[in-house]
Amino acid sequence: MSTSDSKETAQRIGQLREKFVKIYGHHPEGIWRAPGRVNLIGEHTDYNLGYVLPFAIDKNALVAVRRKSQLEPDAKVLDFASTFGHGETPAITSVELDELVPGAVPGWAAYPAAVLWVLNQLEGLELTGLELLVDSDVPVGSGLSSSHALEVGTIVALNDLYNLGLAETDMARLTQRAENEFVGAPTGIMDQSASLMSHAGHALFLDCRSMESEAVPLPLIEQEAVVLVIDTKVEHSHVDGGYAARRDSCEQAAAALGVASLREVSNVAELEALEDPVVRRRAKHIVTENQRVLDTVRVLRDGDLKAVGQLLCQSHESMRDDYEISSQELDAAVEAAMAAGAIGARMTGGGFGGSAIALISVQQIAHVSQAVETAFERAGYVRPAIFTVIADEGAGKA
Ligand code: GLA
Repeated sequence: MSTSDSKETAQRIGQLREKFVKIYGHHPEGIWRAPGRVNLIGEHTDYNLGYVLPFAIDKNALVAVRRKSQLEPDAKVLDFASTFGHGETPAITSVELDELVPGAVPGWAAYPAAVLWVLNQLEGLELTGLELLVDSDVPVGSGLSSSHALEVGTIVALNDLYNLGLAETDMARLTQRAENEFVGAPTGIMDQSASLMSHAGHALFLDCRSMESEAVPLPLIEQEAVVLVIDTKVEHSHVDGGYAARRDSCEQAAAALGVASLREVSNVAELEALEDPVVRRRAKHIVTENQRVLDTVRVLRDGDLKAVGQLLCQSHESMRDDYEISSQELDAAVEAAMAAGAIGARMTGGGFGGSAIALISVQQIAHVSQAVETAFERAGYVRPAIFTVIADEGAGKA
């Protein structure tokens, strides 16, 4: 576990500081922390301007930063290094100012570069050139928002260092733009928002149209329950066609119904007007999922985890059958967890791989984990990574 205030995070911060000095020959000006997320419920509703209910998890990106005194004479806008995937002395990727264009920056450096690109378009900001070193324990490709954690860690750092005065919702919008236009992934606003705005012990109930949010207490500790993540190790990507195709279907549905977004539709009967059965099914997922988020918030307030569990299962069925974004591994994870006595389970995140979550009682951690592992082994799937998560505090100075 590495919650915002855990010993493990403190240790990683110390190591990052030391490595920074080794690599760049100076101390960083500060270190910022941005968590990954799981989404409890409300999938693909964000870009339909609906509701989501994610929470920040106790796995995070740490971003150490130093501003160079000025951009000249070497004109490098960014020196980037990361501790993951490298040995003792990580390689530095340097980005020149004229390389700060979509598609030009390779690897992990693309995420902080995307943030610089978007900030560089703000009035009144003079980029000075930056040295960055990042460390992250958010598993990559697992659907837990490792890339958003990196973007959010960068933007909160620069917001502080350059006194930009950006509100959390501004930073969410800017990093979404960075992701959409620089990285090229047509994603919504949920992941950044979860990383920026979550509160420990709470889920973030976010209205993606108004950007109003509310922290909803998760009565897990009181009820001796926990959220288990099952990372199927089947890497997902939002740059591939599946995510964009779902988004297109939703836009088609909204256009055909004459509404600005599917958020405007609250009754599935209205979807009868859609001729294309595939588009109708996609829209049905969005309309029913929005309702499930509202229902989950309501039953969470009553402390009714059993009812939450039922909604999670319904959400999974909807993603499997109507939105068609699940995978055989995700379905197997959900089925095995439920058969082993989970309160509820569903895939989480964009889909086509990545992770599932199971809401279980604390006593069942070993039993459910074992059942899922056995099911995967029998089916000949890659061994999943299974771990519990805690609802952590959103991003900030470490
Ligand atoms: C990805 C995207 C989010 C959201 C989810 C699906 O995580 O980044 O914006 O659309 O998929 O709910």
